[in-house]
Amino acid sequence: MLEKIKKIEKEALENLEKAKTIGEIEEIKAKYVGKNSELIEIIKGIKDLDADAKKEVGKQSHLTKSKIENKVKFSLEALEEIALEIFDTTYPVDTEVGTLHPVTIVAKEVTDILEKMGFMILSGPEKDSEYYNFESLNVPKDHPARDMQDTYWTSDGDVLRTQTSAVQNRAMKEYGVPLRMAAPGRCFRNEDMDASHENTFFQLEGLVIDKDVTIENLIYVMKSILKEIYKTDVDVRLRPGYFPFVEPGFELDIKCAICGGDGCSTCKNTGWIELLPCGMVHPNVLKEGGVDPEEYTGFAFGIGLTRMAMLKYKIDDIRLMNSGDIRVLSQFGEGQ
Ligand code: FA5
Repeated sequence: MLEKIKKIEKEALENLEKAKTIGEIEEIKAKYVGKNSELIEIIKGIKDLDADAKKEVGKQSHLTKSKIENKVKFSLEALEEIALEIFDTTYPVDTEVGTLHPVTIVAKEVTDILEKMGFMILSGPEKDSEYYNFESLNVPKDHPARDMQDTYWTSDGDVLRTQTSAVQNRAMKEYGVPLRMAAPGRCFRNEDMDASHENTFFQLEGLVIDKDVTIENLIYVMKSILKEIYKTDVDVRLRPGYFPFVEPGFELDIKCAICGGDGCSTCKNTGWIELLPCGMVHPNVLKEGGVDPEEYTGFAFGIGLTRMAMLKYKIDDIRLMNSGDIRVLSQFGEGQ
């Protein structure tokens, strides 16, 4: 028995000497002094030995156990010291600050403008239910308008939201009317990517509901935002646009700032970029949000924030926005 204990001790100490990681040390500890180890079994059996053996084996086994445990402790401390040497806490830190992403800057500018106009700023989940993303917006199951947005479905039947319009119904139910809210956030669509289409991009939803809200109010708010963002009167065109959740609906396009309207790959040679669809909230959407359409009217808009940032900073390819390329992105923002 004593020979066996000596052998355990020798083997454990040699292995600890060679161990290079905390994981290895913990494994050795479990193997040699853990509760299912041979040594602990020996200690548990001491009570059944005769008096002499009890004394000898008892002494030797406890001595071995504490030698191994001490060596484990020492080995762990030695590793911690090495780690401290590698992460020298006195080493001077890099004081260079990062910059805000162009989309973050534009989102902040737009929300600042809207807050001054009395909008509250909300957010919604990026993975959302079919109900909020489609049904609450007057887009029932099997409605052809669902094909306008190639959607990522998750295995539990939810969607990665295709539009920040998904926040509309929640806002109505949570805050009631009158309501002025804006919700910036990330959206996802299974797009073929090109210079102006990403599968992950940012929008900002705006929703105003009150008594006697008109299209004129809508156009005033749109123009104010664009003027503040681009610091000049920008050329825009308003044309009819179809979205099941607004009636009438409009597409507000902005003259392409990359080519000045001559046509380029960013605007697909049309001279215009779709930036700001909007319209008067459909009565069905109001009803679904618990608002009486006989008493209240409203307007909604969905700004393409990523495109807005591209046009502001003259970034000709949307794919640069998610590239994480600091050489590109650090040109626009100031330190936080
Ligand atoms: C919508 O998503 C509507 N929810 C907007 C809306 C809100 C209409 C409220 C009416 C009332 P649309 O699919 O056109 O609409 O997208 C809105 C804007 O998001 C586009 O004008 C564009 O600027 C931006 N956008 C859409 N898809 C992409 C994409 N794949 N990559 C980059 N930006 C995109």
